[in-house]
Amino acid sequence: MKTIIVTGGAGYIGSHTLIELLEKTDFNIVSIDNFSNSDKNTYTRVSKITNKLFETIELDLCDKNALTKALNKYESIVGVIHFAAFKTVPESVSLPLKYYNNNLTSLINLLDYCKEKNINNFIFSSSCSVYGNADKLPVTEETPLKKAESSYAHTKQIGEEIINYFAPSVSSFKAIILRYFNPVGAHISGENGELPISKPNNLVPIITQTASGKNNLTVFGNDYDTVDGTCIRDYIHVSDIADAHVKALIYLIESKSSEKVSVFNLGTGTGVSVLQAIKSFEKMNNLTLNYTIGDRRPGDVIAVYANNEKAKSILKWEPKLNIDDMMLSAWKWQQNLNKGLTN
Ligand code: UD1
Repeated sequence: MKTIIVTGGAGYIGSHTLIELLEKTDFNIVSIDNFSNSDKNTYTRVSKITNKLFETIELDLCDKNALTKALNKYESIVGVIHFAAFKTVPESVSLPLKYYNNNLTSLINLLDYCKEKNINNFIFSSSCSVYGNADKLPVTEETPLKKAESSYAHTKQIGEEIINYFAPSVSSFKAIILRYFNPVGAHISGENGELPISKPNNLVPIITQTASGKNNLTVFGNDYDTVDGTCIRDYIHVSDIADAHVKALIYLIESKSSEKVSVFNLGTGTGVSVLQAIKSFEKMNNLTLNYTIGDRRPGDVIAVYANNEKAKSILKWEPKLNIDDMMLSAWKWQQNLNKGLTN
């Protein structure tokens, strides 16, 4: 049976992608995770939602020997979707070497294994942070990459370059690089979502925790040159991001790509301000959110949103859920968390 390896499958985007793969394909799915920023119970939630079986391996991808030993038992690996990485922007600013070491060593080990075993289809999680402070919005895949604002973003820029140099060295190897904008929300069932192991840094989990009385939301700056003074982002539902991975994988496996490496933006194409996101949360969930306006956060870009035409036309992908769906599902998930769903 044809096998797909998903690294970081217990993580936020990884677990939603497991769900889409299990529901939409017949591959044997193997998830690798070391639970450094995820929870084993996520697998139980994926099984419950899909009622499907998949395999799991607990492994640090930086350990090449362990990786080789674990994967050698699979005879027909046809693709790898590589999510596993550290992703906390402020932490990456204070601990850059932790980010370079983990995010790049794991990628190199995986590519090396692909070369050894003739695994030819590779999908890499990249990020809109590779664009830095772009001169022109929306950004297309051709927009020049500016200086990375954090070592996290830099690991994504370097990761892309590693793939670009590696791919031509292996004749049948092809890769797709997916640049995510701001993935938010939870599975529409409310049974799986983002699970910050420590204090979250991202807006939506902070909003839902604040609504639960577990956090205090500060809006980082309202004096930017934007519609209401707050930063603009392109929030995209995590299940839409997951769906794009299935489409990208099939596209690669069916050999539709003539390029060695293709890059796609995954965003809705709509810029939403922090205050607009808060208003959507309040409206959809019939709640009033207490928040304060604070200083600008160092490292924040003012505005970024995607031109997503390439993914639409080539991958035949279309984001289906809007900011209201994102806020509704995120709150549903938080309420389940509040009930102790993961304990
Ligand atoms: C960044 C990266 C993204 C990466 C993600 C991982 C950019 C452009 N994007 O997202 O690629 O995947 O980190 O963590 O670098 N905000 C508040 N109060 C809060 C938290 C956030 O006002 O308590 C605001 C931020 O200032 C920002 C927006 O909410 O304007 C979104 O912030 P966040 O969710 O942290 O994501 P990014 O920093 O945009």
